[in-house]
Amino acid sequence: MSALRLGVNIDHVATLRNARGGSHPDPVRAALLVREAGGQGITAHLREDRRHITDRDVERLASECDLPLNLEIAATDEMLEIARRIRPHACCIVPERREERTTESGLDVVGGEARLRPFVAALTQCGVRVSLFVDPEPRQLEAAKRVGAPVVELHTGSYCEAEGEARAAELERLVRAAALCRELGLECHAGHGLGYANVAPVAAIPEIVELNIGHYLIGEAVFVGFVEAVRTMRRLMDEARGA
Ligand code: PXP
Repeated sequence: MSALRLGVNIDHVATLRNARGGSHPDPVRAALLVREAGGQGITAHLREDRRHITDRDVERLASECDLPLNLEIAATDEMLEIARRIRPHACCIVPERREERTTESGLDVVGGEARLRPFVAALTQCGVRVSLFVDPEPRQLEAAKRVGAPVVELHTGSYCEAEGEARAAELERLVRAAALCRELGLECHAGHGLGYANVAPVAAIPEIVELNIGHYLIGEAVFVGFVEAVRTMRRLMDEARGA
């Protein structure tokens, strides 16, 4: 089975900092601890309203951290300009609504094909690896392929929120979507809502090569420390993978 990378989303270190408006806690300091904690990448979402990560954070993450940066952005002209300037390792295109508390659903690639194709091409042209954050639906994956994205990230939110039989059904959707990614030649990532109690079945899906996890880890860090929280997640992922 291929290796499974852990991308640590540090947005909510910035949420905590912004609650007081100063410089502590510093999301870049968290990013610099990710490698020793066993993570392979940094993820940050520069939202239109800058509610957590700021432009300055993104600049510092790109220049001060040597792990690959996965910058989550909406498909807007403003974000394209920023990505062109910063040149992160990867950009994950996400839908964005100001009133939402977090990214509630996947991108409608089917409905946005005409807009997304040039957006993906523009990022690809400047050397950025593009992923599209999608619900685990075959038609969205097929559309992702058509617009030229090499990677998709499957939205695991519905799986995480479901219970009992409904959760088993959501897991099955993820399993099938990951298998379809293989058939289509799309690299498959996953994330949203994952924590210690629900990560293992997703980490065990062989086609998934990267998980992006944030909110749970930052919450757990309050109790056990950031490095310990990330280490535990890494261990659970390795155990599920049979590594
Ligand atoms: N992947 C994507 C595309 C996201 O938008 C988010 C949330 O910002 C995550 C992963 C991480 O989700 P969580 O913070 O719930 O672990």
